[in-house]
Amino acid sequence: MQDLPLKLAQSLEKRKQENAFRSLKKSSSLIDFSSNDYLGLASSEKIYYQAHQILKENNLLQNGATGSRLLSGNHKIYDLAEEFLSEFHQTEAALILNSGYDANIGFFASVPKRGDFIFYDELVHASIRDGITMSNAKTYKFNHNNAEDLTKKLEKLSKPGNTERYIVTESVFSMDGDMAPLKELAKISEEFGAFLIIDEAHATGIFGEKGEGLVQESGIQEKVFARLNTFGKAPGCHGAVILGSKSLKDYLVNFSRSLIYTTALPPHSVATILAVYQQFKTGILEIQQLKRNIRFFKEEIIKNDLQKGFLGSNSAIQSCIIPGNQQVKNIAESLRKEGFEVKPILWPTVPKGSERLRFCLHSFNSENDISGVLKNLAKLLS
Ligand SMILES: Cc1ncc(COP(=O)(O)O)c(C=O)c1O
Repeated sequence: MQDLPLKLAQSLEKRKQENAFRSLKKSSSLIDFSSNDYLGLASSEKIYYQAHQILKENNLLQNGATGSRLLSGNHKIYDLAEEFLSEFHQTEAALILNSGYDANIGFFASVPKRGDFIFYDELVHASIRDGITMSNAKTYKFNHNNAEDLTKKLEKLSKPGNTERYIVTESVFSMDGDMAPLKELAKISEEFGAFLIIDEAHATGIFGEKGEGLVQESGIQEKVFARLNTFGKAPGCHGAVILGSKSLKDYLVNFSRSLIYTTALPPHSVATILAVYQQFKTGILEIQQLKRNIRFFKEEIIKNDLQKGFLGSNSAIQSCIIPGNQQVKNIAESLRKEGFEVKPILWPTVPKGSERLRFCLHSFNSENDISGVLKNLAKLLS
């Protein structure tokens, strides 16, 4: 077998020297403070059987999609699911894509055009950055969650005649767990005639009365150009949806390469999405349990005098800054030995000095689990 070209081998070696080498680990059976399965739905038997029932009712007992959605892969279940999603999320149209990553690159590579301006929060997810890089637009980052900085930048850059401006943020940030000032951003977008795009990956299934997300909880859905909601996190399944106008959907179906040039999700993935959303619509208890656990976790942070390390967050993501790759890896390893799975987030995923332990909270974490992990952390840090 041919080995790696020298430059690639050197990059790997450098990663090792920088203590930032990644490898694929088996998923563990430790107490879960790391997965995105915030509501435990990934292993819900009820949803599993409901999805199967949906497939049977629609005569769709098949394994693969057989082609792109534009060719043979657009099974009728897509229409059912997209209609359901549009109604649930109070939007004109919904377009399901294979993953949040695909949705972000497909959207940003095709929507902002050459000469347009994209203003994005400095902490947005890698999939948004990659999409933005693929667009031919000019890009400007604004300070994290800083509406004032965004306004200044919008004021400073005069916009030639047909230039469009896009403002991009996440509603809940994937690494810090904090929330964007959505109402302010909606107001700024209106003032400047800009198009607002919000990634709701970590808000879907958690915020809103029934898991609709923070956009609907904030009541700004009419002011948003596009929303991205992913299904791999709280919904516990796979895929993503772009929510927006019917004409945006038509545009993406025609120009979004990550929708056009790939095999569609198999029918059972789409049936699972539909089954989860049917559950959301009737209301599920796990959302309230998760919220109780978030409150309890925050109380335990104070009880264990850990406030200094933790970034303020009201979401299911709670990060404790422990600078240095080695240091944070050591602490995560010690917690593993005590039975807790908490992932260390290393540079270069986060900036140097802000390496962290990232706790993902779940509806199924017990109060014992939560007080146990924080007590252990306090001991290790003292
Ligand atoms: C904010 C955000 N957007 C998009 C994605 C990508 O979603 P997916 O895992 O469905 O590709 C993630 C995943 O980590 C994310 O955190």
